[in-house]
Formats: sequence, C-alpha cells, structure tokens
Amino acid sequence: MNWDFENILVDSKALESEGIVTITLNRPKVLNALNTQTLKEIVLTLEELERNNATRVVILTGNDKAFAAGADIAQMLASEPSDQIKDERESLWRRFNQFPLPIVAAVNGFCLGGGHELAMACDTIIAGDNSKFGQPEINLGITPGAGGTQRFTRTIGKAKASYYALTGEMFSAEQAFEMGLVSKVVPTRTTLKEAREIAKKMAVKSPMALRLIKESIIAAFNTTLDEGLRLERRNFYLTFSMDDQKEGMQAFLEKRKPQYKGH
Ligand code: CAA
Repeated sequence: MNWDFENILVDSKALESEGIVTITLNRPKVLNALNTQTLKEIVLTLEELERNNATRVVILTGNDKAFAAGADIAQMLASEPSDQIKDERESLWRRFNQFPLPIVAAVNGFCLGGGHELAMACDTIIAGDNSKFGQPEINLGITPGAGGTQRFTRTIGKAKASYYALTGEMFSAEQAFEMGLVSKVVPTRTTLKEAREIAKKMAVKSPMALRLIKESIIAAFNTTLDEGLRLERRNFYLTFSMDDQKEGMQAFLEKRKPQYKGH
C-alpha cells in the first residue's frame, strides 16, 4: 500500500509489531477542514487496513491547534443540492462507519462541525485540555449533516445537544467529559501518547472480540433494546466458537498473559 496522501499522514511503523496505525489529518493551513478528498483518503486507508491481518486499532488525530474545524467551507460555498447529492461524501461516511475495528480519536484544539462528527464516529475520544467542541453549522445558515444532530443527541441528550446545535456555542474538553462525549481529558501535549497507551491496551486483546464488542455497542445506537440484546447475546455465543475464548480463559486460570490469534 502506498501511504503517500495529499491531506493525511499515515504512520504504520507499529502495524506489524503492535497492530496500531496512526492517521493524522494534515491540512494545517485550514485547521484540517474536511474536504471530500481528505475524507476519501481516510476511508481508503481504513479499507486497506481492514484487509491487513495485522491491524488491531487505528488512532485518528490532528495537530495541537485543530483535530478538524469542520467540513471545508470554501468547498461547500458554491455547492447546489444536486452537487451535495452526487458528492461521494455520504458513501464515504457510510464506509467510515463500517470499519470494524476500534478507532481512537486523539483530539486537540478545534473539533467542530464535520470534525466533531468525525470524532463522534470514532469509538472513543481522548481530548487534550485545550480542545473546543461544537456544531457551529447554525452560524453558517446550514444544519449538521453527518451525525451532529443524531449521534450528538444520543450521546449527550436532547436538551444539551439542542442547546449547542441551535446556538453554535463551543464547549470545552472538561464539559465534553462531563457530558459523556469524551472518555478522558489529558494535558494537550500528552494526548497522542495517551491515545497510544489506550490503543495498546486494546491491541493485545482478542481481535475478534474487539470487533464483536464494537458491533454490539454501535447496535445500541441503531436498534431497539430487544434487538440489541439479541445481537449482543449472539456475539457472546460466537466468541465460544473461537480459540481466543479458550486461550483467554486458560491463561486466566494459569495466571499468564493470553496470546490471542484472532480466531
Ligand atoms: N473550512 C475551510 N476553511 C477553514 C475552516 C473550515 N471549516 N475553518 C477554518 N478555516 C480556515 C480559515 O478560513 C483560515 O484560512 P485563511 O488563513 O486563509 O484565512 C484558517 O483556516 C485559519 O482559521 P481562522 O483564521 O479563522 O482561525 P481562528 O483561530 O481565528 O478561528 C475557528 C478558529 C473559530 C475554528 C474559525 O476558523 C472557525 O470558526 N472555523 C469554521 C468552523 C465551522 O463553522 N465549522 C463547521 C463547518 S460546516 C460543517 O462542518 C458541515 C458538515 O459537516 C455537514
């Protein structure tokens, strides 16, 4: 795979040894605004990583000033509804959402609009204490279009999601933590390091169990409780068909670290 992209950097040094790949949004001049090309590069990378048996966990990050300050306003300005419909963004978002392994978002600085939606589409968010979150689309005369009224509401509740999406006001990492949007707030200079530690913890677990847990948790957003519980139970049963379940339990009883094989 050629990791040479225009708008992202892909660090795959730890792919073979640890199963971890870091994708860095790299349009610093426009605070990592997410144009279609950037989204496409992320998705193509994820799809390539999905085909690579070594992949366990992906980290998605930006720079100290911005994770991403939203969709690219310059690209959107002249857009007509028909352009939006024909644009491949919808399919790119869908493909992003289908990536089956954990994605840890390491967020510093601005995490707004489409950038916030991208972070919310990851499995967990680690935030630097300088992070600023928000859905400021209302300030531009548009609405959020990739989860900023849906995942946001399901995560922090109607009253707060309405407040932030209707006022466009930003909120801090600490507030995001209190609302359950991010899982950890850390000093800005340590965000990526912290995300790596968390990714390492995940990467040594059974890869199939990681996938099945991700699938079951996402189902909590998409299905009724009954259906979600059914899927959860089936995934639980499925783990008993895998060597990794025997290995995990055997290792516990033998007081040693498990060596998972991914089947
Ligand atoms: N798209 C395109 N360019 C952007 C951008 C964006 N979302 N955000 C920032 N930039 C550009 C600015 O135009 C500026 O470029 P120039 O240097 O060429 O002027 C550069 O990045 C630096 O930005 P600022 O000078 O504005 O930096 P600041 O520190 O003063 O302010 C900010 C930072 C508060 C984040 C401000 O840039 C801002 O409000 N950005 C827009 C945020 C926004 O509205 N996001 C939502 C976009 S819509 C969306 O996301 C919809 C969707 O997904 C469906």
